[in-house]
Formats: sequence, structure tokens, C-alpha cells
Amino acid sequence: MSAPTPTSEQYESLIAAALAAKEGSYAPYSKFRVGAALLTVDGQIIKGANIENASYGAGICAERTALVKAVSEGSNKFLAIAVSSDVPTPSISPCGICRQFIREFCALDTPIVMVSSVYQAGEYTASKEGDTTVTMTLGELLPMSFGPGELELERRP
Ligand code: THU
Repeated sequence: MSAPTPTSEQYESLIAAALAAKEGSYAPYSKFRVGAALLTVDGQIIKGANIENASYGAGICAERTALVKAVSEGSNKFLAIAVSSDVPTPSISPCGICRQFIREFCALDTPIVMVSSVYQAGEYTASKEGDTTVTMTLGELLPMSFGPGELELERRP
């Protein structure tokens, strides 16, 4: 079943939150700030930022920070996700691990909005490629994915 499509006001709030979320980034090693925001089914917006570590591999991306915050506080159904960085092209998309993490909690038709650092309020367009946003579904970003349903398949060892 498809989730309801967010309104343009919800997209604007979600994008603003993803841009604001970068302020919470702790990225002294890469100096690459990322902010993410999730729109929950009940209309809440939950932010996350990347948090790095002196043991580099122990860092966590913005998208997973947001998901871990949301799920651990009781929200695990989402209508859309926005991701921002300080890169002016809308080209920074969730990494492979984050795509899989998102897959656990989102339908394959969930829109993921990649946001330019120079996005101005009101620029969101529902079309897939705008000047300052690119919107793709989770299924487009992670084709032929492995999700919770696959664990229900009959096995014949
Ligand atoms: N990063 C994210 O937070 N999300 C992504 O989707 C891509 C990468 C972070 C991880 C690391 O802190 C920095 O960006 C550079 O890789």
C-alpha cells in the first residue's frame, strides 16, 4: 500500500529541517556536514546530523542519526526524507548503509529529497529534478533490495 503524498508545505518544512540539521553535525575529521530530516506519518519532523569519531569507522551518518532518534522515540513510519550538505548541487544522496537502514522503515515509494546547500524557501518542485532539489524514491536508490519481507520467504535447505 502506498503512503500518502506529503503536501508542498510539508516538503518545505522537511527541507528547512534538513538544512537546519547540519548545525548539529560533528564532523571535525571530514569537515563534510550532512543534515537529514524525516517526516513521520503523524506529521512530525525529526532531524539528524552526521556524528564522527576519532576512530573513523565508528562515525554515523545524518540519515541513521535521524532514524535512530525517531525509532527509539516511538516513530517508525515515514512519509518522506530530506538530505542536505554544504554542496551547492543537489547531488548528495544517502550512502549504501543508510539506504539499507532506510529500507527497514520506509516503503519503496518513499520520496527521498536531495537538497542543495543554496536552496531557497519555496523552490521545492514535485518534478524529479529541480535546480536545487532532486527527488528519487527509495526503490530507485536501492533496486532489488533485501528487506524484512525476504526473511518471510519459504526456505528449502
Ligand atoms: N555522510 C552522511 O552523513 N550521509 C551520507 O549520506 C553520506 C555521508 C557523512 C559521513 C561522514 O561523516 C561524512 O559525511 C563524510 O563521509
